[in-house]
Amino acid sequence: MIRENDLEALLTGDKSTAEDLFRRAREKCLAVKGPEVLVRALVEWSNVCRNDCLYCGIRRSRNVPRYTLGEEEILDCCTRAWNDGVRTFVLQGGENPAAALRLVPTVKKMRERWPGAAITLSLGELPFTTYALLREAGANRYLLRHESANPAHYASLHPAGMRLETRLACLQELRRLGYETGMGMMVGSPGQGVGHLLEDLRLMQAFQPDMIGIGPFIPQEGTPFADRPAGSAEMTLRLIAILRLMLPEANIPATTALATLLPEGKKAGILAGANVVMNVYTPENERAKYDLYKGKVNV
Ligand code: 5AD
Repeated sequence: MIRENDLEALLTGDKSTAEDLFRRAREKCLAVKGPEVLVRALVEWSNVCRNDCLYCGIRRSRNVPRYTLGEEEILDCCTRAWNDGVRTFVLQGGENPAAALRLVPTVKKMRERWPGAAITLSLGELPFTTYALLREAGANRYLLRHESANPAHYASLHPAGMRLETRLACLQELRRLGYETGMGMMVGSPGQGVGHLLEDLRLMQAFQPDMIGIGPFIPQEGTPFADRPAGSAEMTLRLIAILRLMLPEANIPATTALATLLPEGKKAGILAGANVVMNVYTPENERAKYDLYKGKVNV
């Protein structure tokens, strides 16, 4: 259990507060989720994106070579992962509704070929009909970070026209369609204060996501936030731990962004209550193009 009144102290307290929090979270994780660390195969399907999020390295207006994997390439990545013993595939990409719709037959093939696998999608805000078609095709989980629970802060991270309300409506619809649903945010994004993080925690407590993705903000060259400071790895670990205590059953990865900022970041995440790692299965020749932030590691 975790008390609402304690949250701020847990985020801002001294080193021993943090150590105690991490210990409680890993004990809770062991008791509820067991000793295994779950491995996911991350297939970065496409870096084509219609959005222009101010923080993101694959935003539309940034000059990067674009790619989209074809069906055979996706199935090859999944085969490699399956042969490595991985039983959850995560197809992630920029927001590209027309191309996402073309994934329906691919997801169908994945479902036929690997009936026992979990198929997770992370493709942004799509028409509800597309979410439904992908679900019918066999996808059963969807990750859509809310990025900030505060509407004004959300607006400051995104171009005009993108609204928190729309994002939350997508999350509700995904849940209604029977997807296991994931949300989350960057830690230390420009303009974010402790108050915003408390709002993020309250939103997730209310929504009760099945999965939670959080990682530190890391500036990327050629974006409006290129000169902003990176978020704190330590604050990210505190949030992982708090979320483990708040939502004990949730699947929480130790993210690549955390590992990019902190040596042995994945291990630190696990020791703070995370229970998932996402290993990159994107073909080697495309990996560098999925450069969401500076120095992204492939561990
Ligand atoms: N730093 C950290 N995470 C980022 N993301 C995008 N850009 C960055 C960045 N500069 C995360 C966002 C988004 C996902 C695609 O990657 O949270 O949801």
